[in-house]
Amino acid sequence: MPDSLTLALSKGRIFKETLPLLKAAGIEPLDDPETSRKLILDTNVPDVKLIIVRASDVPTYVEYGGADIGVAGKDVLMEHPHAELYEPVDLNIACCKLMTAGKPDQSVSNGRLKVATKFVESTRRFYAEKGEQVEIIKLYGSMELAPLVGLADRIVDVVDTGNTLRANGLVPMEHIADISSRLVVNKASMKMKHKRIQTFIDQIRNAVRDKS
Ligand code: ADP
Ligand code: PRP
Ligand code: MG
Repeated sequence: MPDSLTLALSKGRIFKETLPLLKAAGIEPLDDPETSRKLILDTNVPDVKLIIVRASDVPTYVEYGGADIGVAGKDVLMEHPHAELYEPVDLNIACCKLMTAGKPDQSVSNGRLKVATKFVESTRRFYAEKGEQVEIIKLYGSMELAPLVGLADRIVDVVDTGNTLRANGLVPMEHIADISSRLVVNKASMKMKHKRIQTFIDQIRNAVRDKS
């Protein structure tokens, strides 16, 4: 099927917020990933399939051609700075900010600042640009815990309402980047299935514009 399309999405907010955009492009999944255990979902369009992957795996699937197209947060894309991907549309969904945060009273212990995060690349770049030497501690989640138990002086995480920080007695500090989700496209697919993918991109772009 030379012009079939495989789209990589993650469960949760990206799936939910991408659904109306896909619908505007005439694509509706036949299963709900929140209730189905299937990882490949058929859609109402016979040659369009959705694959369900971890949010941080979307760039990998698309770069290596496991999917033609994907939806990934800019935070995730910033962790893959050398990925060979097109990034044609800002979908303006799953919006948040990448920030540093810490305890409000923090007088930083002498020596290097310890920073806990799952965003190692962005954190390294942010402090390098400030000329600050820091020790980065890689975590996979629940970053807010790290300053509370003395694992780190700061965290770098995404912040939306600020409720998670507040609930854990932390305050947002420095703004690193505005984050939203992007459509990403495999470079070979873009060449081989150009017409099909360009039409899809145009439909999604119009749906994003109509929403705003
Ligand atoms: P994960 O399992 O990796 O945490 P999520 O579905 O929570 O996956 O996040 C997917 C993307 O949504 C992230 O890469 C980020 O761009 C964005 N995001 C994460 N948390 C929030 C939030 N609280 N509010 C809005 N967008 C968010
Ligand atoms: C994300 C992120 C923060 C929180 C920020 O967690 O890791 O903890 O949202 O949002 P807020 O500022 O509105 O509180 P998520 O809800 O994705 O849970 P997760 O730990 O399962 O990723
Ligand atoms: Mg999350």
